[in-house]
Amino acid sequence: MNPIIQALFNRKSVRAYLDRPIMPADRDLIIDAAIQAPTAGNQTLYTILDITDQALKDKLAVSCDNQPFIAKAPLVLIFLADCRKWLDCYRFANATPREPASGDFLLAASDALIAAQNAVVVASALGIGSCYIGDILENCAYFGSCCSWTASSFRPPCWSSATPLSSRRDTPNRSASTVAL
Ligand SMILES: Cc1cc2nc3c(=O)[nH]c(=O)nc-3n(C[C@H](O)[C@H](O)[C@H](O)COP(=O)(O)O)c2cc1C
Repeated sequence: MNPIIQALFNRKSVRAYLDRPIMPADRDLIIDAAIQAPTAGNQTLYTILDITDQALKDKLAVSCDNQPFIAKAPLVLIFLADCRKWLDCYRFANATPREPASGDFLLAASDALIAAQNAVVVASALGIGSCYIGDILENCAYFGSCCSWTASSFRPPCWSSATPLSSRRDTPNRSASTVAL
């Protein structure tokens, strides 16, 4: 099978990790692959936060509905839908932009998630397991205060990643006929 198609079918969420660092070259490739993703109007309305501080990882693990594997992941990336980027740019150019509305946030969240999925697939192809963490949305104000997020940024799922601890389990059997009408 074509390796790209194979990587899509092989990916699965991984929540148990070996105590082994992610090689810098792999980390760079994962992030580089993420930023190859298409974005609305080529605006790249997202920011990737690489959480390296163990204390912040610990706070994430607790505030994301107590999911301890987050604290154990050597690579924790937050894909932040970030409308502030262009506001800052316009203001720097002495323009007076309107405040972002719901459509802007939707586009920014789309940008962030599409980039995150690129990262997930590339990590999987490198033998690095990962898991999205949607629960960051529940306490995003708390965690945002730890990271100085502003009101014009929106927090989509963060993402944790590491070499999987367990041997591969079978990916779920999803056939097009069961999910597509
Ligand atoms: C937006 C989003 C949020 C998710 N949040 C969590 C989460 O907080 N914790 C978790 O263990 N898995 C989370 N997952 C992983 C899903 O549970 C998982 O993708 C789903 O059960 C299908 O399994 P698979 O990824 O192995 O195919 C999330 C997935 C997505 C796409």
